[in-house]
Amino acid sequence: MKARSDRMRRMGNTVAFVPTMGFLHEGHLKLLKEGRKRGDDLVLSIFVNPTQFGPNEDLDAYPRNLERDLALAEKEGVDVVFTPDKQMLYGERFQTYVQLEHLPNHLCGISRPVHFRGVATVVTKLFNIVKPHVAVFGEKDFQQLAVIRQMVRDLDFDIEIVGIPTVREYDGLAMSSRNTNLSPEQRTSGLSLHKSLLQSFEHIQRGEKKSSAIIDAASELIQSFPETQIDYITICDPDTLDDVDIIDGPVVMALAVKIGKTRLIDNMILKP
Ligand code: PAJ
Repeated sequence: MKARSDRMRRMGNTVAFVPTMGFLHEGHLKLLKEGRKRGDDLVLSIFVNPTQFGPNEDLDAYPRNLERDLALAEKEGVDVVFTPDKQMLYGERFQTYVQLEHLPNHLCGISRPVHFRGVATVVTKLFNIVKPHVAVFGEKDFQQLAVIRQMVRDLDFDIEIVGIPTVREYDGLAMSSRNTNLSPEQRTSGLSLHKSLLQSFEHIQRGEKKSSAIIDAASELIQSFPETQIDYITICDPDTLDDVDIIDGPVVMALAVKIGKTRLIDNMILKP
């Protein structure tokens, strides 16, 4: 992959990169379409990164289907699919991690303490191997995108980071590889995330400014669906991710809810 990247760069080509954990869906394909527009060469990586999963998380249950992914990649005009394995990226005595000081102490980072260290580390490694000029990420993982942007600024990566709005199913459910693990009943409960965001949007349109009132109503709505267990619901500053109590400018409302054993996340920018 490194040799191939050097060759592409020597030819004067712009390299666009879309890192994923595979089991591709329309959300990933949207990122690939953007990458296709922005790069002469388009690289897709597929790697279920063990360092971003905690000990009791769903690393083993994470869905995989390389054959299908490769067919979809070909259809999207991907030039190179990079599929490293664990041994290749984390060989013997691996011990160097990239850790951000503040952004991970919010939202998903609270219940997933090693997650963003794993993400920042693997994305750094992938950036060094693929050597892209531009890399495309989804806004569905809002905190992840914030972490990557911050890391690129802090560590002087010469890479443009592009964010893509969340792609949803016809009924609003944010596309996710994990949706495949939901039963039909659980999928209905999964809709509660987007519904609660829409409800919050309406509350703000009607003049509600207090985050606590909006969060309480969202929490009530989600709990009315079976098998839901709220991890967090937060209204925060889109840049710092610090909680906002009174809404008088753009905020991001973000939430994580476990539906049975499957943890789903979603978010929306809200403006008064
Ligand atoms: P993964 O969950 O496979 O997601 C890969 C990329 O697709 C991420 O940038 C994610 O935000 C984006 N994405 C996922 N669902 C989306 C949707 N419904 N709409 C738009 N974009 C969506 O995120 C990861 O993998 C990993 O953490 C990774 C960055 C690859 C590091 O291991």
